[in-house]
Amino acid sequence: MTAIRVVPSILSADLARLGAQVDEVIAAGATVIHFDVMDGHFVPPITVGPVVLAALRAHVGDAIDIDVHLMIERPERQVADFAAAGATGITFHAEATPHIAYTVNLIREQGCRAGVAVCPATAATVFGETSLDLALVMTVNPGWGGQAYIPGSDAKVAQARALAASAIVQVDGGIDVATAPAVVAAGATLLVAGSAVFGSEDPAAAYKAIVAAAGA
Ligand code: DX5
Ligand code: ZN
Repeated sequence: MTAIRVVPSILSADLARLGAQVDEVIAAGATVIHFDVMDGHFVPPITVGPVVLAALRAHVGDAIDIDVHLMIERPERQVADFAAAGATGITFHAEATPHIAYTVNLIREQGCRAGVAVCPATAATVFGETSLDLALVMTVNPGWGGQAYIPGSDAKVAQARALAASAIVQVDGGIDVATAPAVVAAGATLLVAGSAVFGSEDPAAAYKAIVAAAGA
């Protein structure tokens, strides 16, 4: 997955119409859907879990990549359930477990792409210390959609790109037509966008505008 892709996050979707909302962005060309899981501990809000993931997987079929972002404590305890529910990739936070390599291995054993995420205050160095398939640089503090991109995050993206040479570098938070070019220039290839897509009157058009801005 070295091509640049814009990844709509369902966090900002109308969850009463989740299937229809996802259909709109898939029709516009999206092949990866971002699924944010929050536990009320690692981050204050609580969102959705494996039951909703299984419903989404059944709705979209096997061709769509569902990119699960776990913002939960002790993610290793939940990996099997999210894999069974249909995750393509599972990304967990380096701050949420003392067992990073163990959790990466567990995710891979379940047949999923293993991602490691860091919050803005966490150094990118972890990306150079562990084998991983995806390095997620949070460009806002995790927990809420609609926050502003933290200026200078592109420097950390470049660090991640250099440290995790064979991994996908993903960004998440405040990505829109204005911020996409800098993160792409710094080496990100998976660009999560929540409110910039589903907060729009026309999610398909908004998705396509970010794709164009990213040169994807
Ligand atoms: C925030 C989530 C993001 C969220 C991004 O903690 O991890 O995936 O959906 O939302 P925007 O794109 O609105 O910043
Ligand atoms: Zn996310």
